[in-house]
Amino acid sequence: MNPTTSTYTLDIQGLRITLPGTARPVLDGVDLHVAAGETVALVGESGSGKTLTSRSALNLLPPGATVEGAVRVGGRDVLTMDADQLRALRTSTLAMIFQDPRAAINPLRRIGDFLVESVTLAGGTSRADATARATELLQAVGLDGSALRKYPGQVSGGMLQRVMIAAALMGDPALLLADEPTTALDVTTQAEVIALLAELRERFGTGLLLVTHDLDLAAAVSDRVYVMYAGRIAESGPAQALFAQPRHPYTSALLASTPRLEAPGGRLAAIDGRPPDLRQELHGCPFAARCPLATEICGRRTPEPLRAPGLPNHRAACHHTDRLEGSPVDA
Ligand SMILES: Nc1ncnc2c1ncn2[C@@H]1O[C@H](COP(=O)(O)OP(=O)(O)OP(=O)(O)O)[C@@H](O)[C@H]1O
Ligand SMILES: [Mg+2]
Repeated sequence: MNPTTSTYTLDIQGLRITLPGTARPVLDGVDLHVAAGETVALVGESGSGKTLTSRSALNLLPPGATVEGAVRVGGRDVLTMDADQLRALRTSTLAMIFQDPRAAINPLRRIGDFLVESVTLAGGTSRADATARATELLQAVGLDGSALRKYPGQVSGGMLQRVMIAAALMGDPALLLADEPTTALDVTTQAEVIALLAELRERFGTGLLLVTHDLDLAAAVSDRVYVMYAGRIAESGPAQALFAQPRHPYTSALLASTPRLEAPGGRLAAIDGRPPDLRQELHGCPFAARCPLATEICGRRTPEPLRAPGLPNHRAACHHTDRLEGSPVDA
């Protein structure tokens, strides 16, 4: 890799995706990057475009999609790669962890064969080297070498997700994409898998793009967060600052509607209304119809994701970010 091409492992710029039969782009001007070794969370309601954004890193987009903008992984443009180049990318630079591990593994193959073949089929690695690496990685994810001889049906869902994480690390990727990697697991196992991802990041320096609608999870593990709404980035910033001092009314509303463990029985504020339908053209801010701060300009002009006042690394696409409670300009 040419180190001068990009300092980002993943660098998405101005990504706009239009699907057939829709009135507006499903992703509209998404900018997102993950630096080397960074953990970045992508959060937002169902249908906001999180999966499409993460899959763009593999150029895995729906048939008929029209794509504008740039998607670079390790400085290389993935939107122009052919199938062979994408396959090579997937066995080296980038790996994906899926939501449901049982759907992503052949139940008739032993776990060891699955791990080993994930790298040997691409060539360049011997079976002995791959087996040694698989054993080491199984230990790193808290399993012992005996798992190599088992079939997927003989281990629990949590163990299988650990196997998938080990599989993702087999090619020593610079970037892991994890789209809701813990939703198929019980709460205790979720916590273990997440702790494991954080530990592996420390150990192997792997960048992680974590797609989730669990804000507590995003707050617990990520360095930075992107909040998506209706195919756009509503807000982005350092995780701590973004959750402590959201600069977009949508982020505030999401945080207010999240069940918090520390306040059992507390009232949950649901966000009134629904995100705009893809068959609907949009004028102005996509959140305006649901926003408590909306004024005339919000229905007329689309807000750009601008730097929040006083917060250099924090951006919010809102005309009224300065009217949010706790705003630095209020102080
Ligand atoms: N293959 C497809 N064909 C048509 N529409 C699609 C396709 N894939 C996604 N969409 C639409 O694109 C929008 C964004 O989808 P996406 O799957 O990225 O959302 P998401 O944020 O991942 O949601 P969830 O939290 O439910 O996984 C949705 O409105 C969805 O219906
Ligand atoms: Mg999704």
